[in-house]
Amino acid sequence: MVTESLGKHNIVEFIFDLFSRRGAEEYMGESVSMAQHMEQSAACAAADEAADSLVAAALLHDIGHFVGDFPIDALEKGVDNLHEEAGCQFLAPWFPPSVTEPIRLHVAAKRYLCKTDEGYFDRLSAASVNSLRVQGGPMNADEVKQFEANPYYRDAVKARLYDDDGKVAGLTIKPVREYRDMLESLLIDQANDCLTYTGADS
Ligand SMILES: [Fe+2]
Repeated sequence: MVTESLGKHNIVEFIFDLFSRRGAEEYMGESVSMAQHMEQSAACAAADEAADSLVAAALLHDIGHFVGDFPIDALEKGVDNLHEEAGCQFLAPWFPPSVTEPIRLHVAAKRYLCKTDEGYFDRLSAASVNSLRVQGGPMNADEVKQFEANPYYRDAVKARLYDDDGKVAGLTIKPVREYRDMLESLLIDQANDCLTYTGADS
């Protein structure tokens, strides 16, 4: 476990350490672990030839489950753990908005797709349907407008689709540690606050 203070030199190792310590935990009743789920989501992004920043977003999109104060099964038990916000806040000092915004918006993207894509709801897993209720259900028209005002909303939608596809039991996939070079290449020099959600009119 990393005990020194965090900096650019060790943040990626700290993330790997989080995966080692917490990654084996169950992913909301799905048949993959948390780490497998995020690794599979990243593999989907890579297969889609997404930019490195979006592959990184897919790889780290649920890291908020590891860094928040809520128990891992909070969503299953009907409590919104706001893991998308927790993940964004944890990563924002180290990674650019092209990584952190799709992470922050990946729950909103599910609510968005449920409203705007007729066939989307049917591809959701039972656990995702369950958490959708806790997370506010499908967006209304105003929320759709607000969501589409975010410059990263299209990437958030893609990250969401990689998220939905990353739940295949028994699939061996590239482990998180093999993304070291890519993650280190994305690190930013200056601390960066999480972007605030901007409305369509602002
Ligand atoms: Fe996920």
